[in-house]
Amino acid sequence: MNTNKLIKMLKKPEIYMNGTDSIWTNPYTAKNMLEAHLDDSHDGASYRIEKRDKIINYIMTKSNLCNNDSLVDFGCGAGLYVNKFANLGIMSTGIDFSENSIKYARNVSKDNIDSNFIHSDYTKHIDFEREHDIALIISKDYGVLPENNRKNLLSNINNSLVCDGYFFFDVPSYTAYEKAKTQKRSTWSISQKSFYRPHEHLKIEADYFYDKEKVSCKSVLIVDDKIQIYRMYQTYFSIEKITKELKDCGFTVQEVLSNLEGEAYNESSHTIGLVSRKK
Ligand SMILES: C[S@@+](CC[C@H](N)C(=O)[O-])C[C@H]1O[C@@H](n2cnc3c(N)ncnc32)[C@H](O)[C@@H]1O
Repeated sequence: MNTNKLIKMLKKPEIYMNGTDSIWTNPYTAKNMLEAHLDDSHDGASYRIEKRDKIINYIMTKSNLCNNDSLVDFGCGAGLYVNKFANLGIMSTGIDFSENSIKYARNVSKDNIDSNFIHSDYTKHIDFEREHDIALIISKDYGVLPENNRKNLLSNINNSLVCDGYFFFDVPSYTAYEKAKTQKRSTWSISQKSFYRPHEHLKIEADYFYDKEKVSCKSVLIVDDKIQIYRMYQTYFSIEKITKELKDCGFTVQEVLSNLEGEAYNESSHTIGLVSRKK
């Protein structure tokens, strides 16, 4: 084993530097990710069902969604929102780059003509066949991207919407950043089987923080017959920072909340829920 290579991989990376593999597209971890989305005992990958129902209710009421209106969910995962909205008569499209999740979501939709799934990377240009009334990104997914990809995503969202169309999403707050720093970890373990591998492997985990940019990185190095590193980033936001990003990409902020369930904003909240509109 090349020790220099190992040390280099484990050091604090340049901000947003990719790992050597991705949990979303590696076939084994993608299967486990889908299971995590469907696990209703935690809010880790997808929010639990009670929370999802409150979010759907809030979005329906706030935007006055009616039969035959249309919606697009960026990073739809297992289609938990798309299929629910489609059952309510909303023409719903889900976009995700996980083939596994899209396959599952299509299966569950049972050919409901109101649901449609696109297998695509939402940071690459997407041609939409129609303009939608509403766009969503749920589960703080916006912040996992570096700034240039956030811009590409916002440009796709802008193109997907009618003028004045709604964009609902949530991001983690600066309060969440400070809390995450208190939980900083560096650990190692040897497992027979884990989320990352179905066989024996060594796992080394380290958390890194970038104070100037308010970004965290969870690095997970896996050693079996190969060495791979996974790097999961999260960007944290103040209201000013997210408002500026939206404004620069053609959106206005209509309402700032503590979450997408419609709770009023409060400074101690770990999440910021945003209701924005295409200009
Ligand atoms: C945290 S999960 C949330 C899924 C869904 N929004 C929910 O709340 O149930 C993030 C999803 O975004 C997808 N994703 C991440 N990066 C993506 C990209 N660049 N293009 C398309 N989908 C992406 C992942 O495959 C995953 O399904």
